[in-house]
Amino acid sequence: MQNPPDSGRILLVDDEPAFQRLGADFLRGLGHEVVVAGDAEQALAAFATLPAPDLVLLDLAMPPTMDPEAGLELVPRFARVPVIVWSGHGDHELALRAAELGAWDFLTKPIDPDMLRFVIARALRKAKLDAELRALRAAQAGDDMGLVGQAQATVQLRAMVRRVGPTRVSVLVLGPTGSGKELVARALHASSPQSENAFVAIHCGALSAELLESELFGHLKGSFTGAYRDQPGLVEVAHGGTLFLDEVGEMPPPMQVKLLRFLQEGTFVPVGGRSAKKAEVRVVAATHRDLEAMVRDGSFREDLYYRLKGVVLRTPALGERPADVPLLATRFLHRVAPRAGLSGDALAWLAAREWPGNVRELKALVEAAGALLLPDQPEVDAPLLRLAAGEADGDLPAEPAAPLEGLGPLDAALAELERRLVRDALQAAGGNQSEAARRLGISRVGLIKKLARLGLR
Ligand SMILES: Nc1ncnc2c1ncn2[C@@H]1O[C@H](COP(=O)(O)OP(=O)(O)OP(=O)(O)O)[C@@H](O)[C@H]1O
Ligand SMILES: [Mg+2]
Repeated sequence: MQNPPDSGRILLVDDEPAFQRLGADFLRGLGHEVVVAGDAEQALAAFATLPAPDLVLLDLAMPPTMDPEAGLELVPRFARVPVIVWSGHGDHELALRAAELGAWDFLTKPIDPDMLRFVIARALRKAKLDAELRALRAAQAGDDMGLVGQAQATVQLRAMVRRVGPTRVSVLVLGPTGSGKELVARALHASSPQSENAFVAIHCGALSAELLESELFGHLKGSFTGAYRDQPGLVEVAHGGTLFLDEVGEMPPPMQVKLLRFLQEGTFVPVGGRSAKKAEVRVVAATHRDLEAMVRDGSFREDLYYRLKGVVLRTPALGERPADVPLLATRFLHRVAPRAGLSGDALAWLAAREWPGNVRELKALVEAAGALLLPDQPEVDAPLLRLAAGEADGDLPAEPAAPLEGLGPLDAALAELERRLVRDALQAAGGNQSEAARRLGISRVGLIKKLARLGLR
């Protein structure tokens, strides 16, 4: 028989055999499943047994002591679910203490069946709503894995990350600069069963072949000048977790051989060492370069290429997924200015723009605009974006220079002087903010802030 919607699994804790039988029959008649316990020990054991109860009915006076105080101590042990307590006497203070300990409701024996039915139904409904809310929150939190976007390509990318993340397959992430390759690598790690272990990133182009080897595989004390002590390799740090080989296309050929051996055999020899060590890592590699072309022209080893590209994931250029721009921009803005919005003309300006630096460029621009918002400005608009992008100079009102005397208080006069100097410098620099900032002897960011403060935009 199908259970009614508000039915649940109830743990009935009462020492009176007659009440156990009658109560259990009554509850089963309402469609609930019932587990009965006669004392505290049985109750705790039943509570810990799967499937776990959804609700506990607890008689406070229990053997061996029959002291309601002892029953009260049980209430917090069942905190995960609603606990309805009762006792033989309607003691107001006892009810209050039970409530303080987290009890859902307090009834007095003899129990009124209608009241019991009502209280149980309400408690179960509340517990169910709580559970739904928790599940929704969890789903939402884990949902985009930090990969914001609704474009088809982004939705597919997320689906692939979710699918591939939990496996041990090597992943090669390909995409232009700033398009989210590292973010994908981190999302893969986060969605793997090894997410508790380390995620270790190494930039393969930033170091010489020798240094890269010593970083990856570690070195022994005295193996080269400056090696004052043994140093474990990053592959050991990443053991059990994920090793992210960033810009793997830049890896010098001698290192490519050593990396391949490690990937094939799971062993490596630290610099200056003799014996091989073991480490087990999940490898995610990324590059903005055309690895296949590099294989063809011989600058990247073919065998290593095939070893790395277990699964290939692509992070498309932002220009190929325009639907993501407003979503990303809003998300980035809210991180620096939680209550601010983007005006219609701002969104249009963003949509019309090209993004050679992809998401990273969009992020930097929106964050700069958010930082330039004046306290009374609720929205980032197109002029503010242009200002942040260093394109606002054409908009500056050109005022004829007026004599400074008669400007009133010193503050106002100084601001006016500053305004003129800034405007002149911009004009002399042909609108180039960096050049104008140099002429004024301040940083470009300093100039942008000044422009905003002086209302020159
Ligand atoms: N889909 C996205 N959602 C939210 N943030 C993103 C997304 N894609 C990229 N970003 C952000 O953009 C910035 C650049 O991303 P990331 O560093 O992952 O790019 P990359 O492809 O590794 O760049 P590079 O080639 O320069 O190394 C980061 O701050 C990242 O958090
Ligand atoms: Mg990167």
